[in-house]
Amino acid sequence: MLSTLPAWQALSDHAEALRPTHLRDLFAADPARFDNFSLRHGKLLLDFSKQRITGETLRLLRALAEARELDAWKERLQRGEAINHTEHRAVRHMDLRAGDQAPAEVRNVLSRIAAFCDAIHSGVWRGYSGECITHVVNLGIGGSDLGPRMVAKALSAHHQIDIKVHFVSNLDGADLASKLADLNPRTTLFVVASKTFSTLETLTNARTARDWLLAAAGQTSGAVAKHFVAASTNIAATREFGIADENVFEFWDWVGGRFSLWSAIGLPVALAIGYRNFTELLAGANNLDRHFIEAPAERNLPLTLALLSLWNTDFLRAASHGIFPYSQSLSLLPRYLQQLEMESNGKLYDRDGAPLDVPTCPIIWGEAGTNGQHSFFQLLHQGGQPIPSDFIALGKSDYPLHGHHTALLANCLAQSAALAFGQTAAEARASGIPEHLLPYRTFPGNQPSTTLVLGELTPYTLGQMIALYEHKVFCLSVLWGLNAFDQWGVELGKVLASRLTPVVRGEADEHSLDSSTAGLITHLRQFRMS
Ligand code: F6P
Repeated sequence: MLSTLPAWQALSDHAEALRPTHLRDLFAADPARFDNFSLRHGKLLLDFSKQRITGETLRLLRALAEARELDAWKERLQRGEAINHTEHRAVRHMDLRAGDQAPAEVRNVLSRIAAFCDAIHSGVWRGYSGECITHVVNLGIGGSDLGPRMVAKALSAHHQIDIKVHFVSNLDGADLASKLADLNPRTTLFVVASKTFSTLETLTNARTARDWLLAAAGQTSGAVAKHFVAASTNIAATREFGIADENVFEFWDWVGGRFSLWSAIGLPVALAIGYRNFTELLAGANNLDRHFIEAPAERNLPLTLALLSLWNTDFLRAASHGIFPYSQSLSLLPRYLQQLEMESNGKLYDRDGAPLDVPTCPIIWGEAGTNGQHSFFQLLHQGGQPIPSDFIALGKSDYPLHGHHTALLANCLAQSAALAFGQTAAEARASGIPEHLLPYRTFPGNQPSTTLVLGELTPYTLGQMIALYEHKVFCLSVLWGLNAFDQWGVELGKVLASRLTPVVRGEADEHSLDSSTAGLITHLRQFRMS
């Protein structure tokens, strides 16, 4: 049992002793707290001085990492052992960004991606009518959507001018239909992105997109070959769909879906930002990989993020974790991290199949600052629940409009400071707040946060930041003793949905349904669905 380990017990005792201490006290006691509780790596700065920790907290957390044999697990990961034991798969996403050291099959697919990008960007690749491709639509979901979508948006300042990349993921026809409405089949390329090539949402969208193309192309031969490519591990299925083998960008079962943006799943990113920029993204991630593997625990950024997350979740009893990028370009980061963290570590059982006796992954959520300030920040300031968060700021703006960036940064800093230090009744009174309003105008503070600063948002620093979070997730899985690389929890709903589809359509009856599901189906059937 995790909670009975001596290293865990020591943390429990320490947490109880530290509970009454406010972040105000910690800062008052140590004028060099920022220097003592921040780390730098290249152009990344991680300031965790506003976490409710002391030097002793970190010492005990690192002792837990040692007790959980983190270094041995890092070696297993590096050696490519099948650490995803429930699926008998290795976890080798670091190989995808290893540059010259990458396996031959990885380098081969990368050079095919380079050639393909070149053909599209130079206009050598033409659609069925002979026109150049100007729009790319990625059809994928989960890891085959969230990563490339987030990166493409984050790097919009680096986009190629002649090509627009779009993303469609939802089974709801509204997603695809609203995109197709603005597109021309003669100039649109579809990337069907699916590791398994069996995902309902993606294949439904792909079939509809193919019908849309063929309705325009008529009998023109080879239209599908000119307008459909795939990123997949399942060549038999891509072939069956009608995608020519030479248009399939392959990856492998040792690439987990939510760790796949570095593989062929990154094709829409490479098309959007150009292949050279895509290699910069890979190089940034590789740099962070080296840091993760080589840096000692005291200077290791991913490990530090993981230890802080575990501390907040299991010892400060925080059930959620906010992600607040003060960058519109990074506004999809919370959604991306939701999958990365919650699909990886939202688990009940450990690696031996025994129930975990401590809470695991917190609920990850968030929104770009300053938008979040005008919606949910009220609850962070005065809602009374412990909600740790990551603030992410850029030293330099990617869209430098006069006056915007300094004000944005001031807001980012103001919020983390207000959350940490709050405002006492005495301070409110001294600032002229009338006595009857004092309860409403005091702020308890003591909300922990970490601030990550990227010097600037480039393909390289973005690659570093994503890899930082990936390794944080891995470290947490080791600390909790679970398998971060499977996702059996998503299966039950899929099975039920396939059973219910003919029932909802009115083509079959199902007598064993609970009364709620049965009642809802009866109600919905009256709307004559397609
Ligand atoms: O949601 C479950 C899941 O398997 C994710 O892990 C994965 O990223 C997503 O579905 C998409 O899967 P595929 O790439 O095989 O279509």
